[in-house]
Amino acid sequence: MSLPRAELLTAAARFGTPLYVYDAAELDAALARVRAAFGEARVFYAMKANPNLTLLRRLRAAGVGFECVSAGEIARAEHVGASGDALLINGPAKSAQEYAAGAQLGATLIVDRAEEVGLLPPRSKALVRVNPALAVSTHDHLATGAASSKFGVTLEQAPDVLRALRAAGHDARGLHVHIGSAIREAADFSAAFARVAELRPQTGNLEVLDVGGGWSVGADLPGIAREARAAAAVFGAQLWVEPGRYLVAQAGTLLTRVVGTKRTGRNFLLTDAGMTELLRPMLYGAQHPVTALWDDPQPETAGERWDVAGPACESGDLLARDVCLPSPHPGDLLAIAEAGAYGASMSSSYLTRSRPAEALWDGSDWILIRRRETPQELWAAEEIG
Ligand code: LLP
Repeated sequence: MSLPRAELLTAAARFGTPLYVYDAAELDAALARVRAAFGEARVFYAMKANPNLTLLRRLRAAGVGFECVSAGEIARAEHVGASGDALLINGPAKSAQEYAAGAQLGATLIVDRAEEVGLLPPRSKALVRVNPALAVSTHDHLATGAASSKFGVTLEQAPDVLRALRAAGHDARGLHVHIGSAIREAADFSAAFARVAELRPQTGNLEVLDVGGGWSVGADLPGIAREARAAAAVFGAQLWVEPGRYLVAQAGTLLTRVVGTKRTGRNFLLTDAGMTELLRPMLYGAQHPVTALWDDPQPETAGERWDVAGPACESGDLLARDVCLPSPHPGDLLAIAEAGAYGASMSSSYLTRSRPAEALWDGSDWILIRRRETPQELWAAEEIG
């Protein structure tokens, strides 16, 4: 996030904390980098990373389609005007409602298991997801291309599933491979694409090769794109990509205020945001850069180390461990960076906490793009008597 500190202080004062803030320029820049690297590839944003309607509309206006994995995400895509070739429907256990919505909107469905051939609506457009069975350099929860993961069909099964789709009257457009998320080694992608390309003698040419997403924020995009293009060329296919994190992570920052401190062997800096606002540190051991937005009145204290802890009654409710910060005071503001992806989208109302508000910096002003929920909204669905 490139926004000046003064603007962040303004947003927190105007909308309260915890608050997710996004920089539209960063979002645009990330999309420009994807386009520069992948050229003619068709881009489907994996909206699970951040489904805020304002961000979706901005991406849609730039010609980006969406990858959806639930009826709710499909409804969001439809709500912002995406259908047909701007829509991919994915998931290992799709519901009847999801198939029907996909068919009605003319989406391409990603087949994740052989049984799905018999479940698709007539004359569906389909890709077959193949699992290349590789070790993937990421957190175990985020690896989807490992032999033990639940996703896709095996390399051996994929050509048969393509044939079965055609035999059943579907438009089997090609193959899909997505090996995981926040992948550290670019070599994992090349290995996966190479394994898929080896299927060419059995599949013949294909209309589409979809290589998914999974790129870390600092990934070597041109390198990954080169390998992806080469694999698509083997099939004479158009390249499709599904970035989630890469497009939105750096655009987003979580702003949280210091509630107080506690020194009990460890130094705890208690904040008004925690696992309910940003689950990634607790769930994946993710490390998000933490910046103090206060003026340090005693620069000599800058060496102190803090565990940044949230308000939940759970010991794992930490946003960061052992970070070096200047002396904090209640009310001071902290910025937790690289939080635009899987931050707000994985926030929860656990403990009947209202999910955070979200605001977008459009280059000249702040726009509120999601207001904070009220407690009444959180229990409204229970008032059914
Ligand atoms: N395509 C498929 C088929 C996916 O399953 C995913 C992510 C993506 C694309 C986008 O992946 P990305 O480019 O964002 O890495 N909650 C986790 C991430 C889970 C990703 C699930 N699938 C986190 O906070 O890191």
